[in-house]
Amino acid sequence: MNSLFLRLRSQKKAGQKLATLTAYDYPMGRLLDGLSLDFLLVGDSLGMVILGHPDTTSVTMADMEHHTAAVARGATRTPVIADLPIHSIDTPEDALRNARRLIAVGAHAVKAEGGHESLPAIQAILDDGIPVVGHLGMLPQRVKNEGGYRVKGRTPAQAEVLLSDARALDAAGVAAIVLELVLPPLAREISQAIAAPTIGIGSGPDCDGQILVTHDLLGLFPWFTPGFVQPKAQLAGEIEKAVAEYVSETRKSADRLNS
Ligand code: KIV
Repeated sequence: MNSLFLRLRSQKKAGQKLATLTAYDYPMGRLLDGLSLDFLLVGDSLGMVILGHPDTTSVTMADMEHHTAAVARGATRTPVIADLPIHSIDTPEDALRNARRLIAVGAHAVKAEGGHESLPAIQAILDDGIPVVGHLGMLPQRVKNEGGYRVKGRTPAQAEVLLSDARALDAAGVAAIVLELVLPPLAREISQAIAAPTIGIGSGPDCDGQILVTHDLLGLFPWFTPGFVQPKAQLAGEIEKAVAEYVSETRKSADRLNS
């Protein structure tokens, strides 16, 4: 039993909500380290917020290794969890090899999308002693097949599949499960049905913890903010103000020299 598995599950047992955020680079890893977050996720959302792609489907293992290593250099106290990107868990052998690559550059655990269909891959990683965080609900790596970012669990059939997937991941021994865009009453039911903590994103307040994309929380990606996020800062505006001041000061000093 690894320590992250024990720590996250015992926090749930003790009724402590888990607060977690994404990080993609050294300064954010270092800034967030020591701010009482339960873990930092190097999410493949970096494909969108850092690399400017429309979704996460072009993120590679090389991207994930590069950014995980940078976050791990900055965050020396907070557990770092790295996403296994699209096609990295197509077979159990791929999954194990790629999970080991992320651990080798500083991750303490990996996250994998999917339920029953991903279980053989997840099991191979767990059997190697590497902690895994599951990810159910809206699966960004499948956004092209699913026709967009839609709330999951609206039909009884969908709800049954999600509950059964969550139970299967829990029984396999994942450290936690991200629930993305799951209908809030269903997210509550799943949270009550399993021992692993659920980490919600757009899934209501009754998950065992929450995760947000840090850029959404801090107003650092002003071109799009998901409806469920209440930003706590507007850093894009602060950058604009600071740069405008710098440009104006620089131009004024040049004017003085020329006059
Ligand atoms: O890639 C990511 O950042 C994620 C979170 C949104 C949970 O998977």
